[in-house]
Amino acid sequence: MGPDRSMRIYVAGHRGLAGGAVLRELQRQRYTNLLVRTHSELDLEDARPTQRFFAEQRPEVVFLCAAKVGGILANNTYPADFLLRNLLIEANVIRAAHVGPFDERYRIAADMDHMLRLFEVRGVRSHYLPRVIVHMRAGGLSNRSLRNIWRANMETWRSLRQHGFHVGPWFIGRKILRKIPQLFFRREAR
Ligand SMILES: NC(=O)c1ccc[n+]([C@@H]2O[C@H](COP(=O)([O-])OP(=O)(O)OC[C@H]3O[C@@H](n4cnc5c(N)ncnc54)[C@H](OP(=O)(O)O)[C@@H]3O)[C@@H](O)[C@H]2O)c1
Repeated sequence: MGPDRSMRIYVAGHRGLAGGAVLRELQRQRYTNLLVRTHSELDLEDARPTQRFFAEQRPEVVFLCAAKVGGILANNTYPADFLLRNLLIEANVIRAAHVGPFDERYRIAADMDHMLRLFEVRGVRSHYLPRVIVHMRAGGLSNRSLRNIWRANMETWRSLRQHGFHVGPWFIGRKILRKIPQLFFRREAR
């Protein structure tokens, strides 16, 4: 079986030297579903529109040829600027392609949904760091009231099911019970 020529392929930086060559080769090979955006249509340094683009278009293959490129003089004069902007482009594209954006249909548990995709669906590995890095305060949206606790847990449950994890009611029950004390013993942010 040959390659699927209808797969959605995004060529980032298609008007540049490298991207243009990639695009022409794909067209020559008769790939039919090619996605392109100019810099002014989609600024890849900007995380939100980049995530939106990936969420809407769902490319299956990405050629990352977009970059801030200068001549030798510019590269030598502003090395940090070039480095930072290209890192931003790469980080935004990899993140958007890998885990997708925050799913704003989840009003309270969007962060949980995002982590679920990152660690459980995509299998990104995490390591326990035995050190306090940041003090989180209780009293955020998810535990402001009993209603919000209930809602956050229902969203968590929906997110788990959406990604193919079938957990029993005990899972949510245990989570709710653990949160109740936070309604009474709150610590302010430092
Ligand atoms: N040229 C080569 O022979 C060659 C060989 C190997 C590797 N590379 C690498 O390939 C990359 C591109 O090089 P190139 O020579 O093709 O550069 P280029 O001709 O200057 O093209 C850069 C492309 O990136 C796009 N772009 C820049 N910033 C962007 C942003 N923030 N958001 C969206 N698009 C953005 C530009 O879009 P617009 O046109 O819309 O402004 C342009 O199409 C570089 O990392 C380079 O090191 C190049």
